[in-house]
Amino acid sequence: MFSKEEISRFVNSEDLGGQSICLPYGLKTPGDSRDEAIEVVLGELKKSQTVLDIGSSLGLFCLTCLQHGARAVTGFELNRDSLSRAKRIANFLQLKPRYLRLNVEECPDIEKHDIVLCLNLLRYLKNPLGVLRYLASRASDTLIIETAHVGERDVKSIAKFWGKASKLPRLPGFLMRLLVASMFKTTSNALVAPYSPKTSLRAFSFSKTALDAVLSTHMKLFYSVQIKPSRQKDRYFVVCKKLKIKHLVLVSGACGSGKSTFIEKALPSGCSSTLGLNDESFAVVSGSVIRSRKLSKFLPGQVNDSVVFHYDILPIHKCGIDSYDRDPSLDVLMCAERVSVVMLAPGKDQLLSQMIASETANGSMPKYHSDLRNKYQSPGWLSETYLDWLDFLGRRLADVDSCDVYDYHGLSNQLNRVSSIQELRGVIESRYS
Ligand SMILES: C[S@@+](CC[C@H](N)C(=O)[O-])C[C@H]1O[C@@H](n2cnc3c(N)ncnc32)[C@H](O)[C@@H]1O
Repeated sequence: MFSKEEISRFVNSEDLGGQSICLPYGLKTPGDSRDEAIEVVLGELKKSQTVLDIGSSLGLFCLTCLQHGARAVTGFELNRDSLSRAKRIANFLQLKPRYLRLNVEECPDIEKHDIVLCLNLLRYLKNPLGVLRYLASRASDTLIIETAHVGERDVKSIAKFWGKASKLPRLPGFLMRLLVASMFKTTSNALVAPYSPKTSLRAFSFSKTALDAVLSTHMKLFYSVQIKPSRQKDRYFVVCKKLKIKHLVLVSGACGSGKSTFIEKALPSGCSSTLGLNDESFAVVSGSVIRSRKLSKFLPGQVNDSVVFHYDILPIHKCGIDSYDRDPSLDVLMCAERVSVVMLAPGKDQLLSQMIASETANGSMPKYHSDLRNKYQSPGWLSETYLDWLDFLGRRLADVDSCDVYDYHGLSNQLNRVSSIQELRGVIESRYS
């Protein structure tokens, strides 16, 4: 136990701005009340969940979550002094959070937590978009963000700049400010402020629309993204619910490889039981649908038992994505507990005959198919394309708890299990050699 004098001495001698934390003997640290943010966090916290707080400062949110039933909490903090003060405060309260001195921008290797908090941090980061993606990967249920959009000071300086730079007739100052404020607060703009040491590297302001676009359209990791207003001027909260898929069956192959036929005919006639799919209730989704719509528009809920994902491995080259790592639709692989990869890689002649089958009576063929016919015939092209896909899968699925791999032969309707993606690489190399 610590004496009242000891805790008072600490409160009076340290620089404890930032968070007001209740200590024993009715003492507390002198910082800001964070009651509103606490309300949002506790509104999401369920008993026995784990919590990761990024930029944990003096540890208010870590401690509060422990006091309200969290099983374990971890705080990342870059500032060494804040971290050592946070440790002393936790000792006074006899609580045991795990505090780590880490820079979130280095994407430290840490286990997933049910809830991830990113409160009042985004605008101080050098690479906020990279960090958001990292945080999304570390949250297994909920990501909570608190941030601020363009504030009064920003509005004034942009209005002044526009007033000078624009060739438009000069508007009265208040009209210009109104124009700037309405643009930056409601459109999908993010504001990049010039670097200034005085603003503690405050670099980015996201409007609500911008952050919503980043979280629900650039990434396909959250089933829902809810913006909540804050009582504090210019601030807002975002509560993101991570998509969860218990079993994802990834049916992948080139154009003409038989993915639709596999899903429509082979799955109902035996393959679904080989894959351990629950026949009655699986949603079927495709890369193009996931890319173009919000997840909540075509998946029934945040938690999904079985999902069949029809993925054509070629269109990324048509629409300028060019790398599987950059395809947002493939984010859903990061939301699955178990993945079954079904590879459809028929022989070159079979793929060519599928392209020729699309010829019309007058001998013409859609341009996409005639281009593919040429590519399918060019030496090494099929092998390189499939191997590129398998290399990506090897990286992306390394983190998935359970992963089974199958090679499907359409002509004989055989679904052969292979031991690993590495083994499938060997199969592809010899098939298209
Ligand atoms: C404005 S304070 C917010 C504190 C707390 N999250 C809150 O909302 O009350 C930002 C905190 O993030 C920490 N921080 C800033 N950049 C960081 C980084 N790259 N990695 C980890 N912590 C960081 C700062 O040291 C500071 O304690």
